[in-house]
Amino acid sequence: MSSSIGQPIVRYDGRAKVTGAARYAADWREPRTAHAVIFQSSIPCGSVLGFDERAARAVPGVIEILTWENAPRLHGKAPKVPPSLGDPHLPLQDREVYYHGQPLGVVIAETIEAAEQAARLVSISYRPDEGILGFAARQREAKTVKHDANGRKATDGKGDLDQQIAAADHVLRRTYALPLENHHPIETSSTLAVWKDQRLTVYDATQGVAGAAKVLAGVFKLDEEDVHVISKFIGGGFGCKGSVWSHVIIAALAAQATGRPVRLAISRVQMATNVGYRAPTIQQVTLASDRRGRLLGIGHETVNPTAMDKDYAETTGALFKLLYDAPAIRTTQKLINLHYPCPTFMRAPGESSGSFALESAMDELAHELRIDPIEIRLINHADRDPLKDIPFSSKSLKQCYAEGARRFGWTRRRQEPGAVRDGEHHVGYGMATASYPVHVFPAKARVTLLADGSAKVVSATQDIGTGTYTVMRQIAADVLGIPYERVEFDLGDSLFPAAGVSGGSSTVSSVGWAIDAAGRDALDQLRKLARKDASSPCHGLDLDRIAAGAGRVYDAAAPERGEGYGDLMRRNGLQAVDGEGALDLKKQKAGEKEFSQHAYGAHFAEVRVHALTGEVQLVRMVGAFAAGRIVNPRTARSQFMGGMIFGIGMALTESNVVDERDGRFMARDLAEYHVPVNLDVPELDIVTIAETDAVVNPAGTKGIGEIGTVGSAAAIANAVFNATGIRVRELPITPDKLVVDLHRA
Ligand code: MOS
Repeated sequence: MSSSIGQPIVRYDGRAKVTGAARYAADWREPRTAHAVIFQSSIPCGSVLGFDERAARAVPGVIEILTWENAPRLHGKAPKVPPSLGDPHLPLQDREVYYHGQPLGVVIAETIEAAEQAARLVSISYRPDEGILGFAARQREAKTVKHDANGRKATDGKGDLDQQIAAADHVLRRTYALPLENHHPIETSSTLAVWKDQRLTVYDATQGVAGAAKVLAGVFKLDEEDVHVISKFIGGGFGCKGSVWSHVIIAALAAQATGRPVRLAISRVQMATNVGYRAPTIQQVTLASDRRGRLLGIGHETVNPTAMDKDYAETTGALFKLLYDAPAIRTTQKLINLHYPCPTFMRAPGESSGSFALESAMDELAHELRIDPIEIRLINHADRDPLKDIPFSSKSLKQCYAEGARRFGWTRRRQEPGAVRDGEHHVGYGMATASYPVHVFPAKARVTLLADGSAKVVSATQDIGTGTYTVMRQIAADVLGIPYERVEFDLGDSLFPAAGVSGGSSTVSSVGWAIDAAGRDALDQLRKLARKDASSPCHGLDLDRIAAGAGRVYDAAAPERGEGYGDLMRRNGLQAVDGEGALDLKKQKAGEKEFSQHAYGAHFAEVRVHALTGEVQLVRMVGAFAAGRIVNPRTARSQFMGGMIFGIGMALTESNVVDERDGRFMARDLAEYHVPVNLDVPELDIVTIAETDAVVNPAGTKGIGEIGTVGSAAAIANAVFNATGIRVRELPITPDKLVVDLHRA
């Protein structure tokens, strides 16, 4: 039987999704479910003097209003490791205000309409304090931090940068800025909380059921087995569902206080401030090179704002330490605590914003030295990890450049910017490198092999729209040697063997590894059974000689001597064999010490810039990726495409702006916060480079959820420069940033 790995199998849950059968968190109901709506602070800093709830309580259907004055007290603590609390300040426990939009209370009512109406009628009086606001104006007050939120080194380096700069023929110093971005998945974050006999059940839109259960157990001081988190379908997460945010705790508090199941679906407006965001960054890049474009020094200093009580570093320096080699490299990570809501992970956090700065700067250097942008990247290609000084487990970046360039028609590019005009449009080509690290999180799985030749597999992982339901079936079918159709796989339940957050592009590598191990465990039990069983064709053989696979247990030295799994099991009175498996963290850590592990890619973009209006139209993009083994080319293509579209938004449309007088986030709906729509997204040509990697994990997968976002914005910005000669260093590239210079030219 041929392996189902590598087959473009149609998404298992596709039908359930398009027919509406898929139940998302907000779709769940229990008898007597009540509805909750949060009301929020309208000042950035200070304290609450009091609430006037009279009008709100008079709304028919209102059951209860909770604020810090009457909400149940929380005595516990959340674990510090991710996934942890998105906002470490526990909600409704005190009168302090740390940011505009902070939840200050919740209305629980019989209908959502009543709850919404009442929430608007609560009047809050404050004693405002002067908040610390103003990111750009205060950047000099920032503090330097050594590590990022995940404990990875952020301020880092090697060699003497100043010395290299002094000795260089060419020094480029540039500042790049990225705006605050919101996640805005189609599904807003939602929770249904149910208490029964001191046990808490939560139906939640979360990227991590096991982690969420741990956090809630910590916060509510419960035993872990008394918290049950269920998340069967997720309508996009992008990082904002990777932590437990205040609304989840508020839903549980509301259910506790009222004795009713409580459903709390936060609004699109609240998605802007209450589930994290990508922190804006200001990045200073220094590239020192010789005349031929050989890099001698790479400097990077980044600063981002974070909340008052949370140090979240957007680690944009990561690629500066990895992508190109130079005798001296220095990255500096700075943070400034403001009265802002808490930022969080957002699709390729760090790498995506960092790649805009690095890959724009490389394009600038190439232009100034009159070197082709691919050529300058090849000149500086890192053959080993520049900082760790260890080899790569595999790296097919050069093939990505070559194949991407070929498909795109890169040789037709004119080196001179502004050289191609087509009617009212300037036309330009740009490219950039993509890279994302191989991450794994601890994961466990159970594989139950049944005597009828089918299997049931479970793991407390999630499908955030990426294809987990599908590809885990493929991986289980492969290890067991049974058809894909015979595997059932379930996820999204914290009672299953624990797995990590669906984040960091880690799920296939981590959970796939656990399923592979669990499958092998089940097969090992069959092999041992065959050795013991006097009626088995393998009776008495050395265990090493007994093989299991393709549905049979057989003599490896004489494969025709064997029998089906089911025959062996039934003869021994077994209906099922349970295999347990976990990712081998020790092996993984050892591999990581020896080999630097990353996926790579290259983006190519063609843009048309309207000469009069400055509107940028993306014409086409090519993305070439080498990311280890591809389990399912169909779902993989969707992932690469989704990543690239995130980059299109980053390049051209997305940003939120903070009103620095009062800390209010200005873009609070999808009319003001522009995610790219179909008309913004042209044909995306995606190609994968075949790559085998024996180091990363048994399946040889590297993770593909985020790499599409890395570098895509830079490729578009570089194409805009090639079209117009105008370098935009502050995203997004909206017409106002081009139109004045276009008319001057
Ligand atoms: Mo993602 S930002 O790794 O959920």
